[in-house]
Order: sequence, then C-alpha cells, then structure tokens
Amino acid sequence: MIFKDIWLDVKAVQERDPAARNALEVLLLYQGVHALIWHRFAHWFYCHKMFFIARLISQIARFFTLIEIHPGAQLGHGILIDHGSGVVIGETAVVGDNCTIYQGVTLGGVGTKKGKRHPTLGNNVMVGAGAKILGAFEVGDNCSIAANAVLLKPLEDNVTAVGIPARPIKKDGISLPKERETMTLEEYGEMKKRIEQMEQEIAALQEALKKQAGNAAEQK
Ligand SMILES: CC(C)(COP(=O)(O)OP(=O)(O)OC[C@H]1O[C@@H](n2cnc3c(N)ncnc32)[C@H](O)[C@@H]1OP(=O)(O)O)[C@@H](O)C(=O)NCCC(=O)NCCS
Repeated sequence: MIFKDIWLDVKAVQERDPAARNALEVLLLYQGVHALIWHRFAHWFYCHKMFFIARLISQIARFFTLIEIHPGAQLGHGILIDHGSGVVIGETAVVGDNCTIYQGVTLGGVGTKKGKRHPTLGNNVMVGAGAKILGAFEVGDNCSIAANAVLLKPLEDNVTAVGIPARPIKKDGISLPKERETMTLEEYGEMKKRIEQMEQEIAALQEALKKQAGNAAEQK
C-alpha cells in the first residue's frame, strides 16, 4: 500500500510538473516526493501508536527536505509538493487526492486547543506558494487558493480564493462580482457633503421643535 502511494506521488509529479523528465529522476531528486515517502512511513508508525519513532522520522525528513509534515496528518494519493521548502502540514490536517501544494504553504491551526484544529482539503485542490490555510474547516474539491493568500473560512467546491483574508473571486471558473471595502476620494467627498447636509437638516428640525414647544408653553 505504502509503495503504491509512493508510485502515485511520483506519477503526480510527472503529470503536473512540466519540468519533470522521468520517474527515476523524480524519485531520486524531488524533495517533495522524499518528504511524502518519509511521511508515509511516519504515518504508519503514528497509526500504530509508536509516536516517538513517527516523530523522529518526520524530524529527519524535515532536516533533509525543509518540509514539515506531522506524522498524524492524513494525506491522499497523487499529491504534488512542488519545490517544497517551508511547507508545514499540521497534525490533524487532511489533504485529499491529487492536491498540489507549493513552497511556503502552511496548513495550520489557530490557538492552542487540542483536537481537530487544522484544515481538511478536498480532492484536486491547488494551494499557491506562501498561502496559509488556518483552522479546522473544509476546503471543497477543485478549489484554488492563490499564492500568499490567508484562508480562514471554508470554501465550497470549485472556488478560487485570493487575498488576506482570502475571499472567493471565482466559482466554477466564472468571476464573482467584486465587493469593495474601500472608496474613492470622489465617493468620500460626496459622503462628507451628504453628512454635512443631514447635520444642517437635523439642526433645523431641532430649532423648529424648540420653537413649537415654546409656542405651546406661551398658549397655556
Ligand atoms: C489564484 C490563481 C490560481 C488565480 O488564477 P486565475 O483563475 O487564472 O485568476 P486570474 O489570473 O484571472 O486572476 C483573477 C483575479 O485574482 C487576482 N489574483 C490572482 N492571483 C492573485 C494573488 N496571488 N493574490 C492576490 N490576487 C490575485 C488577479 O489580479 C485578478 O484580479 P482582478 O480581477 O481584479 O484583475 C493564481 O493567480 C495563483 O495564485 N496561482 C498560484 C501559483 C503559484 O503559487 N505558483 C508557484 C509556482 S513556483
């Protein structure tokens, strides 16, 4: 089973990295593949409750590959960790089949509570270089997380998310309408004018109310 997983990881690199030449080169020279091989063994020891040796393997793998995958993380088949340096995958993270993870990605937690605290990625998810996915939520199948995005919320299937915090910009490949949180100088000027107008109207109303109250008091 472990050897089949390793073979699928090698094939994933061949299929999805245009720079890959042949299976032997991928197996011998790709640190992403090495990290996955080490992890497959570390995870076996973790599942059999041999936590020290599991962690030891993962730390040795980290030393040689600069990729830190906690032995408890559950990884699917055909995963491509491209370039790899700086990738961190937490203990309760789940990565679906055929996902692509670039350098500098963190699948991490927020806070210090125990239990499920890392994200679950569906199948065919692409996580761009430097992106952080933080928290115990699900990212649907076929999602793309942009380079350097910080994703803090779940995503439905087939969504592209960009930015900090990451927001969906495409669904099923179609651009979503933009939600702007800033305004232009003209819009600010217009808003200021309207507020001044409203303040004048409120002052006039208050004045009229005072007058009315005065008249009513005189009539009594
Ligand atoms: C997110 C990504 C998948 C989007 O690809 P796409 O569907 O082709 O999207 P587009 O290029 O049409 O861009 C759509 C919008 O997102 C913006 N965008 C794209 N990537 C972005 C990023 N990383 N951060 C912020 N905004 C981004 C674009 O500027 C564009 O905005 P606009 O509509 O205001 O012009 C891609 O840009 C990306 O980040 N891929 C990661 C690649 C990577 O990490 N490579 C490492 C190789 S070593």
